[in-house]
Amino acid sequence: MSELDKDAAKVPMIELADGNRIPQVGLGVLRIDDEGVTPVVESALAAGYRHIDGAAGYNNEGGVGRALEAGGWTTGERRRDLWVTTKLRDSEQGYDSTLKAFDRQIGLLRLDYVDMYMIHWPTPFDWRSDVSWKAMRKLRNEGRIRTLGVCNFLPEHLERLHDETGDWPAINQLEIHPTWQQRETVAFCKAHGIAVEAYSPMARGKDLAAGDGTIERIAAAHGVSPAQAILRWHVENGTIIIPKSAHAARQRENIDLFGFALTPEEHAAIDALDGDGRMGHDPMTFSYA
Ligand SMILES: NC(=O)c1ccc[n+]([C@@H]2O[C@H](COP(=O)([O-])OP(=O)(O)OC[C@H]3O[C@@H](n4cnc5c(N)ncnc54)[C@H](OP(=O)(O)O)[C@@H]3O)[C@@H](O)[C@H]2O)c1
Repeated sequence: MSELDKDAAKVPMIELADGNRIPQVGLGVLRIDDEGVTPVVESALAAGYRHIDGAAGYNNEGGVGRALEAGGWTTGERRRDLWVTTKLRDSEQGYDSTLKAFDRQIGLLRLDYVDMYMIHWPTPFDWRSDVSWKAMRKLRNEGRIRTLGVCNFLPEHLERLHDETGDWPAINQLEIHPTWQQRETVAFCKAHGIAVEAYSPMARGKDLAAGDGTIERIAAAHGVSPAQAILRWHVENGTIIIPKSAHAARQRENIDLFGFALTPEEHAAIDALDGDGRMGHDPMTFSYA
């Protein structure tokens, strides 16, 4: 095993209800342009990341695909060791439009299959998740998607999807960080075997200073960074995380979470930071287009 593969092996795999296994830590690539994302994905793969979280809406799938192809990650054993997620644009929801969007996206990514395809927002005011899901199911049956997921679904959206398709998604990707923990939705997911994946796991950086220095004090006690203290809290909660950094040193930091543990008191102190710290959008009203 190479040094790199040893690093990757430290990241636990989370088993999903569909039997697939996802690396608990991945790299988010939101707000990085198509040209800039190629070296960012390359440095993450070099740091031991084996999970990339993208979306059509990030307008950089081509740049992700170039990094994967250049590193030999699109075929063979390397491909099998990698988890690639991408997401359907809200404006492309619908049966035929999902199939068409997927063809374009997989071409940009230079892959034969993606590990996970997700509905990006529920858009309950223009609900098409039922037909989009049926198209995604067809793609899974054809072997072009391994796992089907959703993002930003509240319990009522999960129930509606289940009523209309008979399925629960394997994963729900939600905004979760110390000051916005969404406990009710997380509990609903756990009760229905839906794995929880945290986006903006550090509140885009804002929670690094949460609780009047609580995070900083916990980090200092372990000789780690505030980012590592927050990400370790997520890991201990069993949550899948996709921190974004465009910088190689921070990418290494954000995956180096398995050499320390929070005390029960420290873990509880971060639990107690829950509040109204939402950084992103309200799934009841938002569309990413
Ligand atoms: N499904 C959805 O609707 C949805 C919505 C939002 C996000 N996401 C996904 O979740 C991913 C992560 O969320 P996010 O990008 O919103 O927020 P995040 O990961 O909580 O925070 C990223 C920010 O923190 C900084 N940062 C990263 N590591 C750091 C470290 N070790 N120390 C200090 N600062 C650090 C980054 O700056 P640098 O890059 O300059 O290091 C960036 O400004 C996204 O990239 C995307 O893949 C999904």
